[in-house]
Amino acid sequence: MTLSTRLVALLALALCVVAVPAPAGHVVHEARDRIPRGWAPVRRAEPDMVLPFRVGLVQPNLQNIEDYIMDVSHPESPNYGKHWSPAKVASTFRPTKESVDTVRDWLVEGGIAPERVKLGTGGSWMKVNVTIEEAERLLGTEYYVYQYGEDDNYTHVACHEKYHLPEHVSKHVEIVSPTLHFDTIPRGPAGQWQKVGSRDDSNSSSSARTIGQPGFGTSFPKTKGTIQSIIDQLENCDEQIVPNCLRALYDFEYYPLVPDKNSLAIVEYTPQAYVASDLDMFFSNFSPSQVGQRPVLYSIDGGYIQTDYGGFDYNGESNLDLQYAMSLVGSRQPVQLYQAGDLYEGASFGNLLDALDASYCTFDGGDDPEFDAVYPDPYGGYEGAEDCGTVTPAYIMSTSYGYTEADLTPAYEQRQCAEYAKLGLMGITVLFSSGDDGVAGNSGVCLDADGEEDYDGTVFAPGFPVDCPYVTAVGATQVNPNSTVLEPESACEQVIYSGGGFSNVFPMPSYQASAVEEYLTNYPPGYPAGTYNTSGSRAYPDIAANGANYIVAVQGEFYLVYGTSCASPVSAAIFSAINDARIAIGKSPIGFINPTIYTPEFRAAFNDITTGSNPGCGTEGFYAQPGWDPVTGVGTPNFVKLLALWLVLP
Ligand SMILES: *[C@@H]1O[C@H](CO)[C@@H](O)[C@H](O)[C@H]1NC(C)=O
Ligand SMILES: *[C@@H]1O[C@H](CO)[C@@H](O)[C@H](O)[C@H]1NC(C)=O
Ligand SMILES: *[C@@H]1O[C@H](CO)[C@@H](O)[C@H](O)[C@H]1NC(C)=O
Ligand SMILES: *[C@@H]1O[C@H](CO)[C@@H](O)[C@H](O)[C@H]1NC(C)=O
Ligand SMILES: *[C@@H]1O[C@H](CO)[C@@H](O)[C@H](O)[C@H]1NC(C)=O
Repeated sequence: MTLSTRLVALLALALCVVAVPAPAGHVVHEARDRIPRGWAPVRRAEPDMVLPFRVGLVQPNLQNIEDYIMDVSHPESPNYGKHWSPAKVASTFRPTKESVDTVRDWLVEGGIAPERVKLGTGGSWMKVNVTIEEAERLLGTEYYVYQYGEDDNYTHVACHEKYHLPEHVSKHVEIVSPTLHFDTIPRGPAGQWQKVGSRDDSNSSSSARTIGQPGFGTSFPKTKGTIQSIIDQLENCDEQIVPNCLRALYDFEYYPLVPDKNSLAIVEYTPQAYVASDLDMFFSNFSPSQVGQRPVLYSIDGGYIQTDYGGFDYNGESNLDLQYAMSLVGSRQPVQLYQAGDLYEGASFGNLLDALDASYCTFDGGDDPEFDAVYPDPYGGYEGAEDCGTVTPAYIMSTSYGYTEADLTPAYEQRQCAEYAKLGLMGITVLFSSGDDGVAGNSGVCLDADGEEDYDGTVFAPGFPVDCPYVTAVGATQVNPNSTVLEPESACEQVIYSGGGFSNVFPMPSYQASAVEEYLTNYPPGYPAGTYNTSGSRAYPDIAANGANYIVAVQGEFYLVYGTSCASPVSAAIFSAINDARIAIGKSPIGFINPTIYTPEFRAAFNDITTGSNPGCGTEGFYAQPGWDPVTGVGTPNFVKLLALWLVLP
C-alpha cells in the first residue's frame, strides 16, 4: 500500500470510528487507549472473515489469590511450604456453571447456534468461530486490519479502542479475544523465518526477534564482541566473569544430594537455540567434568534446537543461560530446557503456560491465532497438537525474555499474572530478568504523558511480566572496574542498566510495602509528578545478580556478554541448590520466594547494593541505596546465609 492510499484509509477510518454505537444495556468491558508502536489501522476487517472467538470466563476465588499465596509462602504462616496440588489449583479457580450458562445464553441470544459454542478442556474458555460481522454485533465494536510499519505481510486483526458486553455478562467474563490485544505473531511466507522491527542497524540482538515473541524489542544479552584470551583469575572478575567469580561473589559451593528429586528449568523461545559444541567449549574451560553433558529437552509446541540460523543473535541467550546454569549447579543436577515454539510460528508466554497448566489452555477447538502461536503449524513447521498441560513444571523456572508493560492490555496481563501466582501456589519459583534498559522499556522506549510508547517520552516504562507481583524479578549488578569480588558490587552500568521501577497495572503486594516505603521515604527520587507511578503499585526488581562481562562461548568464540539475562539463570542455580538441601531433609521446595526475601532476616542474607543507578527516559533513573531499591531489589544472594535461613523454615 502506498503512503497516499494508506492516508486515505486512515482518514476514512477516523470518520467511521466516531460512529461506533454503544448498544443499550451494555457496558465497556475492556478499553485500550493506545496500540503498540509500529502498528497502524489500514482498513475495516472484511465482514465475512472468521475469527476464533474466545471468552475467558471469570475464575472464582481469584480475588483471594494473594491471600492463598501468602498463606503458603510467608515464612510466618503456619501453612508455609504446604503447596497446593495442581488439582486443587484447577478446582479452586474453575469457572462456575453460572458463568458458563450466562455466556452461552448471551451468545445464543446473539444469534449463534448453540452447537457452535464449545467449552474448552480446562473449563475456563468458551470458544466459537464467528464472522467479523457477528463479533462486531456481539461486542458493539468495529474490527480493523492493523499493519506493522509499511510491510503489508504483517497484519493483525483487532477491534478499535473498546468492546462492550451486556452488564450481566460482563461480570462473568475476564477477557474476550481476539479483541484489543497485540500479543501477536507476525505472518510470513512458509519456510522463511521473519525478522521484523529491528531496533537499529547494528547487529544488536533485537533484530533476532519476531513481534509475537516475548521480549520483542530486546531484553536479550548484549555483547561487546569476542575476546582474545580468557583470564579466569579471581582477581580479574571486574574484566571477565566466569563461574568461579560468581561462586566467590555469592559464597556458592554446593554438592547436590537429591538431584533426581530436584528440578530447575531454563525457558527459551525458538529461534533462540543453544549450540552443543559451544557448551563443550565452555565446559572444557570451566567445568571439565561436564563436557558432553546436555540439558534435558522439553519440547513445547514443536520447540527444537534449530541450526538454520546462528551467531550471537540466535545462540547468545540460550548459550549464556545454559552454560552458567549448568556449570553452577554442576554435573550431578540435570537442567531442564523448555524450548518453546517451532521456527515459523514461535511461541508466546501463553503457549508456555498452556503446556504447564491444562486449565489455561486455549487449545481445544483451536488456539487463538491472534494471541498465541497455533499448532499444528499452518506454515509447515511442527505438525503436532499444541501442548496443553503436558509438562510438569520444574521447581525453578528462569526466563530472560519480557515485554514492555504498555505493549499489552491490563486484562491480558492480569490473566497471565494469575497463572504465575498459580505456579507459586504449587511451589514453583518463577524468575524473570528485569530488563536491560533501566527505567525505560525494551530497546529504550519510554511513555508520553498519555501512557503511549514514545522514544522521546519522559515517563518511565515498566516491563511485563516482571511487573507481576507473583514473579521474582532479577536485576543486574557489576564488579566495579579495578575492584575485586571481595568488594561490594554496584548496579550494572556497563553496556546495560538494570531494569526497575513501578508498574502501571499491578498494585503493590503487601510483602514489599514496608521495604518500598522505606526507600521512597528515605531517598525520595524527586522526579516531577507523573514520571513514574506513585500511587502504590508493584515495584521491582526483587533481587539482583551480576550481569556484566560474562564469558560465553558462541559459535566457537568467547564473547563478553551483559544483561539481566545473565542474572536470572545464575540466581536460578543458587535457589535450586537451596531446594536440593531442603528436599534432602524432607522439606518442600522454596516456591514463591518474595514474601520470604522481604523479611528483615532474609534481607540481611542478601548483599545490599548501595551504589549505581538505572538511567533511562532522559533521566538518571533510580539510585541504588541502603535497603531495597528499584535498581537491585534487596541485593545479591549470599548462598551460605540464605541456605542457613531456609533450612530452618518448616
Ligand atoms: C511480502 O511477502 C512477499 C512474499 O514473500 C514478498 O515478495 C514481499 O517482498 C513482502 N513484502 C514486504 C514489504 O516485505
Ligand atoms: C554486523 O556483523 C557483520 C558480520 O559479522 C559485520 O560485517 C558488520 O560490520 C556488522 N555491522 C555492524 C553495524 O556492526
Ligand atoms: C473453528 O474452526 C477451525 C477451523 O475450521 C476448527 O478447527 C475448530 O474446531 C473450530 N472451533 C470451534 C470452536 O468450532
Ligand atoms: C583501573 O586501572 C587502570 C590501570 O591501572 C586505569 O587505567 C583505570 O583508569 C582504572 N579505572 C578506574 C575506573 O579506576
Ligand atoms: C498506577 O498504578 C495503578 C495500579 O497500581 C493503576 O491503577 C493506575 O492506573 C496507574 N497510573 C497510571 C497513571 O498509569
